[in-house]
Amino acid sequence: MGKTRAFQNMHNAAPALTPFLGRSQDMEEIGALLADPSCRLLTLTGPGGIGKTRLAMEIASHHQAFFPDGIFWVSLTQLSRSDDLLPAIAKATPFCFQQESRSPREQFFAYLQEKHAQQVLLVLDNVEHLLEGVDLIADMLAATTSWKILATSREVLNLQEEWGRPITGLTYPAAHAEERAAEEYSAVQLFVERARRLRRDFVLSEDEQGVRDICRLVEGMPLALELAAGWLRTLRPTDIAQEIQRNLDLLATRAHNLPERHRSMRSVFASSWQLLSETDREVFQKLSVFRGG
Ligand SMILES: Nc1ncnc2c1ncn2[C@@H]1O[C@H](COP(=O)(O)OP(=O)(O)OP(=O)(O)O)[C@@H](O)[C@H]1O
Ligand SMILES: [Mg+2]
Repeated sequence: MGKTRAFQNMHNAAPALTPFLGRSQDMEEIGALLADPSCRLLTLTGPGGIGKTRLAMEIASHHQAFFPDGIFWVSLTQLSRSDDLLPAIAKATPFCFQQESRSPREQFFAYLQEKHAQQVLLVLDNVEHLLEGVDLIADMLAATTSWKILATSREVLNLQEEWGRPITGLTYPAAHAEERAAEEYSAVQLFVERARRLRRDFVLSEDEQGVRDICRLVEGMPLALELAAGWLRTLRPTDIAQEIQRNLDLLATRAHNLPERHRSMRSVFASSWQLLSETDREVFQKLSVFRGG
């Protein structure tokens, strides 16, 4: 029963329509952390579009055997208030609220205490905008003994129980390192995979330098690679690389099935920008991290 529900939850979350590439070392190390009983809250952190959600999906489906009582996926992108966190989490689990005198929180915590020893993985996807509500996560860990939480967030949650795992881009060829073939790098694989969706006749060897340059310029960031590949309808990889170097605005799309925050690198920066404190913004402005922004 737990398994069936977990399976449904995983797949309701965000069906992957593209192959998962690279990340073998991340998968191995995160798998070891999930197997370690002392790690109960693991947060994958990194900038927007770096691949945290995709990696969490892969980890969850790969490690179903660790969690026989269920893997419950909670997507938090649509939530705007931290008060909505508890109902969203409760809805993803088999728990049901009753019409009774106890508050929803009391009811949910009574459920957690009853199921405290279950081997459950709760995935909280995109927590960054609800950080003021993370005490709930600490309370849930305290109320249970075997539940684990895998969170994805642009920022660490800053909880004592937290094990942080920064996620960086896919592997990409460095400027002068020619010893490995380009297609061995996962950033190149991702670009070529997306390229072939647009141009079936795309052949890496004909444009290899341009593809290497793009992967290096965006430091293997998957979202930026997808947006860059979108330009293959009209530009060659070397031109795309040159344009990226000149102007980040090239990395935008008109695709309708992408969330607003993933339609351009500029909107990724803008939404991360909104999460920064006033002091951090001043520091970043001084550093001019947001090129051309
Ligand atoms: N390893 C991978 N293989 C294939 N595609 C990937 C991989 N990692 C990420 N992608 C793709 O890149 C895009 C961005 O990834 P994802 O949504 O996981 O980023 P994110 O870090 O969760 O961003 P945000 O902070 O905005 O939620 C998605 O279209 C995703 O499918
Ligand atoms: Mg995400």
